[in-house]
Amino acid sequence: MQIELLKSDAMGRIERVSDGERCWIRRDTRCARLGLRWFARTAAAREARVLAALAGLDGFPQLISWHEGVLERSYMDGEPMQQAKPSQPAWYRQAHAMLKQMRRRGVAHNDLAKEPNWLQRANGMPGIVDFQIAWWRPRGGKLFRLLAREDLRHLLKHKRTYCAHALTPVEHRVLARRSWISRAWLATGKRLYKLIARRVFGYWDNEGQGRVRN
Ligand SMILES: Nc1ncnc2c1ncn2[C@@H]1O[C@H](COP(=O)(O)OP(=O)(O)O)[C@@H](O)[C@H]1O
Ligand SMILES: [Mg+2]
Repeated sequence: MQIELLKSDAMGRIERVSDGERCWIRRDTRCARLGLRWFARTAAAREARVLAALAGLDGFPQLISWHEGVLERSYMDGEPMQQAKPSQPAWYRQAHAMLKQMRRRGVAHNDLAKEPNWLQRANGMPGIVDFQIAWWRPRGGKLFRLLAREDLRHLLKHKRTYCAHALTPVEHRVLARRSWISRAWLATGKRLYKLIARRVFGYWDNEGQGRVRN
């Protein structure tokens, strides 16, 4: 068994595990900082529920197991957005289609402003990871729809950075329209989040690399 540490913080560890034949990702919350262990475990349990709701969809990690604070999910070969800098319109078309599939399954991701949560897979197509703060609302609802729209806005912001020429007039309009939720976030939530994250984790954004587009 080969284990490679991808990330370690107060919420636990992310490892890539390989047994020679297969390769998968393990989120281990048992080593989260003591005061945060319950929180880390709750977030991982949420991720397990969301991944189960996305089972079978291409480009999303598949849930392998969730047991005693350890979540295992399939590995997708590829590079995070901040390295790959996807510039092909096809990548964004596919990413948009993935957001629609997510929405149909009742999932809003809520953390897609972070570049490291997007991958460009080895086949050139997008991948989405990190469902710790995602919502699973099979019955939808107003707030769910708003959050799903925020997911799309975040994708379009990345598109504006790496593939601006392919933005359509409708997409420009979506970007220009700010929802009350993102305004409230910028006004208050983001500051509070930065403060807490700095205090607790020693960083605020995203594994110290890649940008966050709010
Ligand atoms: N299934 C996966 N396939 C490939 N890479 C992954 C996968 N899951 C995570 N990674 C890589 O590990 C990093 C950390 O995983 P993530 O789930 O985002 O943890 P965290 O919640 O701590 O940010 C990701 O940004 C990504 O680069
Ligand atoms: Mg992440």
